Amino acid sequence: MKYLHRHTKIIFTIGPATENEEIIAALILHKVDICRLNMAHGSLDWAKATIRKVKEICKQVSRQIAIMMDIKGPEIRTGEIDGVWFLAKDELVDLIINANSHNKNLYESKYRKVTINYPEIIDDVHINDIILVDNGLIQLKILEKHKDYLRCVVLTPGVLKSNRHVNLPGIKINLPAITDKDKRDLSVAIEEDVDFIALSFVRDPFDIIELKNYLLQYNYSPRIIAKIENQSGIENIDSIIKESDAIMIARGDLGIECPYEKLPLIQRQIVNKCIDNCKPVIVATHMLESMIVAPVPTRAEVTDVSNAVFEEADCIMLSAETSIGEYPLKCIEVMKKISLEIEAAIPRSFRQNIELRLPKNKMLRSAVVLAQQLKRACIVVFSHSGAGAQLISSLRPTRVPLFVFTDSESTLRQMRILWGIQPHLIEFNKDRNVTINYALQELLNTDVMQKGDYAVILTSIEVDEKPVETIQLRRL
Ligand code: PGA
Ligand code: MN
Repeated sequence: MKYLHRHTKIIFTIGPATENEEIIAALILHKVDICRLNMAHGSLDWAKATIRKVKEICKQVSRQIAIMMDIKGPEIRTGEIDGVWFLAKDELVDLIINANSHNKNLYESKYRKVTINYPEIIDDVHINDIILVDNGLIQLKILEKHKDYLRCVVLTPGVLKSNRHVNLPGIKINLPAITDKDKRDLSVAIEEDVDFIALSFVRDPFDIIELKNYLLQYNYSPRIIAKIENQSGIENIDSIIKESDAIMIARGDLGIECPYEKLPLIQRQIVNKCIDNCKPVIVATHMLESMIVAPVPTRAEVTDVSNAVFEEADCIMLSAETSIGEYPLKCIEVMKKISLEIEAAIPRSFRQNIELRLPKNKMLRSAVVLAQQLKRACIVVFSHSGAGAQLISSLRPTRVPLFVFTDSESTLRQMRILWGIQPHLIEFNKDRNVTINYALQELLNTDVMQKGDYAVILTSIEVDEKPVETIQLRRL
């Protein structure tokens, strides 16, 4: 074996720092796996043009990556204000629920007033509850509840700008899973056939079902990623994992909605649950935050990324680091270096206890045992839908290259999310031998395999005109 490829996949968020065609090409050639569009920023026209541009460049450089559209979901925000306000400690602020209110006490009040886009807040909160504004930077405490407004006191001072994100820790928000804005964003995803939709603030499996049903009307069935970012998402994690195609541990909001000291354990538990259920999992947000402005990571960030690699998450994700940061390519390099170094240190092992029900799937486990004993062997799977790829990836066979050959371009892109899977496009020949020989030739063209190495191949062959599942051992 020449080289062990990286098993942990990398997602980058596209934005002003990475929209330039040369940078996109460089990112694709530096082997990023998924391009994420954060619909909290950017217009519909921007999204459409960006998706087309990324797809076009993929063609030009002959490497297809997947595209993820991340929609905002039920998110609470403050409204427009004039300029910026410095909110001082102990200052009183009125959060206006009904902008058309005629309440004299409200419009005659001498305190600062800002609207909030969630009128039902009045039913959900109590006096002395805490409201967090702008990613938790400003803390407000509710002093008085009125029909049209909430009077709050500033606990942690800060600078408030327009349209800031609001978190209500521990409170189940009664907003629809997909908002009108999400529907407009989704119209672009439908038109441009995006591979993944990530839904923010998923509270229970019904949010996922609602999104799937909405998209089905348009005959569009992308893979759905549930972003876990509040306490409801954590409480319902098991049923959410079952209903969605992948999970994103959205640590930005999660770290505000939950006590931060619980975050590492929550991350570890969700990663393990996802692997046990054969669902891909993404660790997201603040992985290399300091690299927005610095060319090297902090030691703590290196450790954070390596933890996610040790935990065997499928993907690690970059947000502002690549959308607005000064060193997007360096961030990819850092993640690649850390992943390769740490993966090589994980002992030869795999997840023995993953439940594989079908006898055919149990063969995957045997293939892993064989490949790990041979040491210089890769595993080869042929798959139209990618289902087999997902299972073999979930077994997490460390230090074994995993190649999947598919005849579907969209499957190829969707497999980019899977830990360890190196997808290749192939035309399936009626004669299985022709397909296998072509695949073996392809393996020799990679920078991983070389002559003399072994390939453990899972394939069905025809015996007396009936398909028989086999594991073949071939020498390259
Ligand atoms: P966001 O989600 O970047 O869309 O807020 C990720 C997170 O909250 O971590
Ligand atoms: Mn979030």
